[in-house]
Amino acid sequence: MNKYKIALIKGDGIGPEIVDEAVKVLDAVASCCDLHFDYEEALMGGCAYDITGDPLPQETITTSLNSDAVLFGAIGGEKWDNLPREKRPESGLLRFRKELGVYANLRPAVVYDELINASSLKPEIIKGVDIMVVRELIGGIYFGEPKGRTEDKGWNTMVYTRSEIVRIAHHAFKIAQKRDKRVCSIDKANVLDVSQLWRDVVTEVSAEYPDVELSHMYVDNAAMQLVLNPKQFDVMLTGNIFGDILSDEASMLCGSIGLLPSASIGDKIGVYEPIHGSAPDIAGQGIANPIATISSASMMLRYALGENEAADKIDNAIKKALSKGYRTQDLAQFDAKEVCSTSEIGSIIANYIAR
Ligand code: IPM
Ligand code: MG
Repeated sequence: MNKYKIALIKGDGIGPEIVDEAVKVLDAVASCCDLHFDYEEALMGGCAYDITGDPLPQETITTSLNSDAVLFGAIGGEKWDNLPREKRPESGLLRFRKELGVYANLRPAVVYDELINASSLKPEIIKGVDIMVVRELIGGIYFGEPKGRTEDKGWNTMVYTRSEIVRIAHHAFKIAQKRDKRVCSIDKANVLDVSQLWRDVVTEVSAEYPDVELSHMYVDNAAMQLVLNPKQFDVMLTGNIFGDILSDEASMLCGSIGLLPSASIGDKIGVYEPIHGSAPDIAGQGIANPIATISSASMMLRYALGENEAADKIDNAIKKALSKGYRTQDLAQFDAKEVCSTSEIGSIIANYIAR
């Protein structure tokens, strides 16, 4: 029996509800694949600030580094929006990513055939879309110095070093080798020096991957192409802020942001989380869609633990629940046979695994 230690960071808003469903599904897969998970909970975000005065207590970093992987819910909410920046939940998350060194953020956008009508785009445009956004996560304008704010001026700096670009580029090319072998690197090299460096370095790294086709695209055009003809993309490689924006856009190809998982990977422990936020407006009502988090647990099994069979079981169970017409509220208008609560859909997926 393979045993794993999983740090659970449930966070704020709908975080606890959706992580609970992912745990339910992990436990189902544990009993049928002969795995064992030990969970340790840790605090981050607004809930951590309320209890400790710090959105990222040191203990959370320690617990995470002592585990095999981190499963994360969501953080933030209006309640904490007026705190000084370093006390805000988002600052806790950014520091966490930095401390863990998770530089590669993988955000797959895959359109489920079952939900083809859920997207605002026409079915023929999105059928078969399978994109992997590879977003650099611990550099760029989110972390660049100098930054600051006076009464009349605010400034941030977009910085990338050669080594930061090299490591994320290798990551993207390696992923592409296991997919359709195409990388489109997204930048703003017509305006930004940092992007010109990005483009030059990505091109240099590509020489080591002759089997992968590299193209470059400006970010504004990429935003347009994503809705015009998304099937042209296989791997989209990009920096921190462009990746943040484009991955939200890509999620809409799939119908609901409540479906999309992510993996944040570095040299230490990986973090697995839905790409959506904490949705405080619907927290506690049992209507949140837990599929993005359940799917993140599947990515955790695949990327962090190498338990591919267990990951396949989760992915298949999600597809089966969707094909049978089980839907949470966000997708209720789209071919739903039954509208389920957060915990009902979690149980349905868990039961398909057990069978
Ligand atoms: C994301 C989120 C975060 C980000 C926020 C909450 C700091 O939007 O993970 O995409 O901008 O990276
Ligand atoms: Mg985002």
